[in-house]
Amino acid sequence: MNENFLRACRGEKTQPVPVWFMRQAGRYLPEYQQIRGKADFLTMCKTPELAAEVTLQPVDLLGVDAAILFSDILVPLEAMGTGLSFQEGRGPVITPAVRSWDEFSILHSVDPEKEIPFVFDTIRILRKELSNRVPLIGFAGAPFTLATYLIEGGSSKSFINVKKMFFSQPDLFRAIMDLITEVTIKYLSAQIEAGAQAIQLFDTWGGILTRQDFRDGALVYARRIFNAIRDRGVPMIYFVYNGGHLLDLIRRSGADVFGLDWRTDIATALKDLGSDAVIQGNLDPCLLFLPEERLRERIADILAQGLAAKAHIFNLGHGVLPEIPPEKVKLAINIIHELSL
Ligand code: CP3
Repeated sequence: MNENFLRACRGEKTQPVPVWFMRQAGRYLPEYQQIRGKADFLTMCKTPELAAEVTLQPVDLLGVDAAILFSDILVPLEAMGTGLSFQEGRGPVITPAVRSWDEFSILHSVDPEKEIPFVFDTIRILRKELSNRVPLIGFAGAPFTLATYLIEGGSSKSFINVKKMFFSQPDLFRAIMDLITEVTIKYLSAQIEAGAQAIQLFDTWGGILTRQDFRDGALVYARRIFNAIRDRGVPMIYFVYNGGHLLDLIRRSGADVFGLDWRTDIATALKDLGSDAVIQGNLDPCLLFLPEERLRERIADILAQGLAAKAHIFNLGHGVLPEIPPEKVKLAINIIHELSL
């Protein structure tokens, strides 16, 4: 098995530096589009054979050093009692948006193996099919990020409803966060039991908060999750998108690896994280549009900065965009491996 990803998670410097990309299974790949043409996104998530097949595509086609389970962070919200759909051009829609105690009362805790069985079936298929190749990453949304979708009813620009509740109905906000946190602990534990070899907590919207509000409204819940699953012994990655102003707080989350978006360069981030931190990141996905020679320079720069960390896992600063040519993604992975050998 190619252990470079797991070794780096544990703080070992590796040659080459391991690389995987967020959204590495996705619409930029014609092979994904072919399956997506026959099934909608949620059906793909809920059909273990299809979810496993698209999870493996970037491993087979691109040579990444880790696979990430194909699913979505919003899947557990549906199991908790909401409606969930993905609408073309609009993104995810959650019904009802939960903004009152009445709406909260429709939510319930979840027995993951019973109510989200397809995720664990997918993991079990993947562990078999991946044997002796690369490790499998499981994941969940961080409680604050899930709460934004639950309370806004979908994607948002201003996040007014979630912030309004946090400031004007703190008891309701806390009840929602406690429930999401409890479900997420069970959900990640079940993923690890099914065979996930590392987990990533995605906090895509934690970065919209001030430091004080991130600490009280997001970090305490993320920390509760890391504390609860640490004993299971798999590496835990915390990725807070747009979190450059929060890194010293993020460092105290209890995660083993810290994901960085592209806005904060690694050298600057390490001042707040400390040089004994293991980091993951952080190429701007749009830099994949650069011509080869300039892409090589930008990758070399990130690899050089990563040497100052305890260990470095290469990734993008956010997901691969559907517009990016797949051959550029493959080229970047080859360059990363070649320059860090
Ligand atoms: O990274 C991977 O390859 C694993 C699979 C994965 C998906 N979503 C597949 C997906 C993971 C880890 C996610 C996480 C996720 N989902 C996040 C956190 C990471 C981030 O991007 O910030 C968030 C915020 C979501 C919620 C979500 N899912 C939105 C807002 C959308 C619509 C936007 C879009 O790109 O269409 C999705 C849909 C989604 N999730 C797709 C994929 C491949 C596109 C579905 C399609 O084929 O139409």
